[in-house]
Amino acid sequence: MNCPPALDALLTRYSVGPKHLVEPGPNDEELALMVQAALRAPDHAELVPYRFKLVRGAAKPGMAALFADAARAAGKGEEGAALDAERALKPPLTVAVIARIDLGHPQVPAHEQWAAVGGAISNFLTAAHLLGFGGKMLSGAKVRNPAIAAAFCEPGETLLGAGHAGAQTCGSSSQT
Ligand SMILES: Cc1cc2nc3c(=O)[nH]c(=O)nc-3n(C[C@H](O)[C@H](O)[C@H](O)COP(=O)(O)O)c2cc1C
Repeated sequence: MNCPPALDALLTRYSVGPKHLVEPGPNDEELALMVQAALRAPDHAELVPYRFKLVRGAAKPGMAALFADAARAAGKGEEGAALDAERALKPPLTVAVIARIDLGHPQVPAHEQWAAVGGAISNFLTAAHLLGFGGKMLSGAKVRNPAIAAAFCEPGETLLGAGHAGAQTCGSSSQT
């Protein structure tokens, strides 16, 4: 059986970590397509139980400062703070994925809403890949840091992690 080109392209998606990402990141038109793809993920009752916050360009130093403070609070010292700040500045685009789960929904339990969030992340990263960008979803201790979570979330929301995207310095194999 011949593999359809779209499926062939999907099967070549691997995560590409932030240290392998360089400018340019997706432009506004490409980002709109990636968001449209996210919104095409299965979503019971069309709740859209998530939102994305983009961090790029002039917004990156603010996130770097937050990361540095979180590193100091975690006892990583100035060297660790500088490293974490650098990690925030490196990827051309960071997309904070914020889940807004309705725990009291009469039809759609929380686990189905979380599944919808996962589908949206997957579609978003796959669209980035199909547009020629590398990308990777990361979470780690930072998403549980109160100051970082408060910078992105309203009450009742959860900072799930951050998707990073940009042009990739290496080929199409997994680069973490
Ligand atoms: C919500 C979410 C959070 C993640 N957080 C991390 C993380 O903090 N560190 C990590 O190494 N991988 C994390 N991953 C997994 C990577 O994004 C990636 O899927 C994994 O390294 C496998 O690589 P692949 O996508 O090339 O198969 C996370 C995935 C998801 C969906």
